Amino acid sequence: MSPEPVLLSYDLHGNGAPVIFLHGFPFNRHIWDDLIPYLSPYIQMILPDLRGFGHSPASEDVLSMELLAEDIYHLMDHLGLERAALVGHSMGGYVALAFAHLYSQRLTGLALVASHADPDPPARREARYFTVAQIRERGILPLLEDMPPRLTPNPTVQEKVRRFIQACSPQTAIYALLGMAERADANLWLREINVPVLIVTGSADPLIESARIQAMLEQIPVASWVELPGIGHMPMLEAPAALARALLGWVQQFQG
Ligand code: MLT
Repeated sequence: MSPEPVLLSYDLHGNGAPVIFLHGFPFNRHIWDDLIPYLSPYIQMILPDLRGFGHSPASEDVLSMELLAEDIYHLMDHLGLERAALVGHSMGGYVALAFAHLYSQRLTGLALVASHADPDPPARREARYFTVAQIRERGILPLLEDMPPRLTPNPTVQEKVRRFIQACSPQTAIYALLGMAERADANLWLREINVPVLIVTGSADPLIESARIQAMLEQIPVASWVELPGIGHMPMLEAPAALARALLGWVQQFQG
């Protein structure tokens, strides 16, 4: 039996076109907080904690990207939103792509921040299984040791990243790693996307290959790409004003 959807914990800020922000792994809704002053005068920002993260209910299952997308569909029902735009950071981008595939009729726009459509190559999948085994033995420590320097060159941002990692439960991290390892190839869905798409990357992000973004852009009917110079995997913490500027340009393409 497939897991039941849960009601996610969320924050609302501002008025205007509804835009739902999906955090990456292993973060929570507060990763977007630095954007609130820039964006809330223009849009309604909906900031959920994905299942198992922050204050949302714990998961009893592997966090597949489809399950996380279904939770967003139910959050929209709860908020009385027929349609909304999605911004997804990294793992949140994988969820946003699954949502675009499953529920395209409920989408007005799609923005991917430091994210992409590729499935895990075999070596990356094996690395995730290894990390899962380590977390079973040592709790969240392996993520604390490994992730911050890989995600950003900025020491202040690394410290913020550490605090987010400490707030993530080991069981949620395990379920999310397994869900990401098993995710589908979202490249197969790109041609179906019929809303404005924005891709934002950092030029110093070791997790994102520019050639792969170029290949994605060629598949998506209406897409633009903003690359932020010198920025790593965490543009919302490293360069919130520049990220907000890019997002506002994209919002203008679909707001009524
Ligand atoms: C994230 O930031 O959400 C993760 O690094 C994504 C991933 O591990 O593929």
